[in-house]
Amino acid sequence: MEHELGTIRKEALAAIQAAADTDTIEEIRIKYLGRKGALTLILRSLGNIPPEERARMGKLSNQYKNEIETAIETRTDELTREGADSLIRGQWIDVTLDCVPPVPREGLGRLHPISRIQYEIEDIFTSMGFEIHDGPETETDHYNFEALNIPKHHPARDMQDTFWTEDGNLLRTHTSAIQVRAMEKVKPPFRVVGPGRVFRYESTDASHENTFYQVEGMMVDREITVAHLIYVMKELLKEIFQRDVSVRLRPGYFPFVEPGFELDINCLICGGNGCSVCKQSGWVELLPCGLVHPNVLRMGGIDPGQWSGFAFGLGLNRLVMMKYGINDIRHFLSGDIRFLKQF
Ligand code: PHE
Repeated sequence: MEHELGTIRKEALAAIQAAADTDTIEEIRIKYLGRKGALTLILRSLGNIPPEERARMGKLSNQYKNEIETAIETRTDELTREGADSLIRGQWIDVTLDCVPPVPREGLGRLHPISRIQYEIEDIFTSMGFEIHDGPETETDHYNFEALNIPKHHPARDMQDTFWTEDGNLLRTHTSAIQVRAMEKVKPPFRVVGPGRVFRYESTDASHENTFYQVEGMMVDREITVAHLIYVMKELLKEIFQRDVSVRLRPGYFPFVEPGFELDINCLICGGNGCSVCKQSGWVELLPCGLVHPNVLRMGGIDPGQWSGFAFGLGLNRLVMMKYGINDIRHFLSGDIRFLKQF
């Protein structure tokens, strides 16, 4: 029996030491110390052996039992710690990474420069009491032309190259359609701006694109004059360019304004002295505008005898190009990440 006990002890301790996980340890415990375990059976059989042997064997068995139990405990501890360690090593998260520069940021997107300037302009106009209005990109002839004093077969339609849809609608050629929609929704006096994407059937080059962005503006009140128009435009440009700018008006023809103007600003590149950007003139053409034509007011349900207004159409692409010195309008929709990353 003594020999048998020794073998059990040796085998058990070796198995415990070799165990790679706690499940195996539990199997070993059952095999030797469980209710039908090898050592348990020996302890139980002690009653059958002669008393003089019994005391010594009993002591030995208990000693081995303790040894095996201790070995199980120690190895279980080790295995649990190893498991936790490898878990920590494998799933370690550096919670400080997000606040200690330099942090890799490649994955983050950003606003397109057109969206940025649009939001900036919306803020400026909102601060001057303008409401922001919207309209669909596919328009009817009525909203894009008719109600803007451009009847069918009028030669002024040739000013805008248009994508027509098969059902007689069109991709809006300008945000002026939003003026018409606004007049249906709000009663004078009112101030609205309408940003949006517009489309022209153009052949493209460095300064022409078939898809571009505008912000329409319209203010209707009692006795609105060109002075109001100039004031609001100067405020807007001062905010955008963060400095005072001079403006000048030249006559410009648009059927929905009378008088109509092209508004120029002094060249911000050369300060008005003349350079290649302003073609040595010191002025850069920025936006068309004018006083709302009485026919347009009338078609919009507004009495031109009581009310007057101004309107303007600000081209966002041009503005962004001037602000950042971009030399080709086609960059905006190119989807070229190298271009977009600069903003
Ligand atoms: N809608 C005109 C265009 O895109 C611009 C414009 C708007 C002119 C408002 C005058 C007043 O060409």
